[in-house]
Amino acid sequence: MNSDVEIAGDPLAVQHLMPSDPGHPATVSGYAGLLRGLAADRSAWAPLVRYDPEPRWYHRLRSGPGYEVWLLSWLPGQGSGRHDHGPSSGVFGLLQGELTEHGAGSRTLRPGALRVFGPGYVHEVVNDGLEPAVSAHVYAPGLTSMPMHCSAREGRPREALAR
Ligand SMILES: [Fe+2]
Repeated sequence: MNSDVEIAGDPLAVQHLMPSDPGHPATVSGYAGLLRGLAADRSAWAPLVRYDPEPRWYHRLRSGPGYEVWLLSWLPGQGSGRHDHGPSSGVFGLLQGELTEHGAGSRTLRPGALRVFGPGYVHEVVNDGLEPAVSAHVYAPGLTSMPMHCSAREGRPREALAR
């Protein structure tokens, strides 16, 4: 053997060991490029956007090997609740409007800036503004769970708030 590295188990179960598909992004910078390209091509997403007061609107825009791209709309006052993304990492950004992210501190998200997070990252995103907002999110691997956490602002489990 020419290497002192041996793979135990199924190498195809370890996504970063799989050969990348040149037609799809497979890195953070690739996902960021995908989102920047999407933001620059308003005709690719604007006609699809809907605004729904209940529940918040979302749409899977595309998927590829090991990732999914979601389009979300946020009416004023709508929010995600405090949550994580299970085993998924993510890159997301604003296509239109402004959102506020509460995580480790709070920040205003505007078009042009991207946020990157790893598995287990906990945050809450809300539209505190007066105008609707649209965001795009890449999850890798695709989102399989979104466990809810106690809201830092409300101090009790989200499930309890629904009743
Ligand atoms: Fe999130």
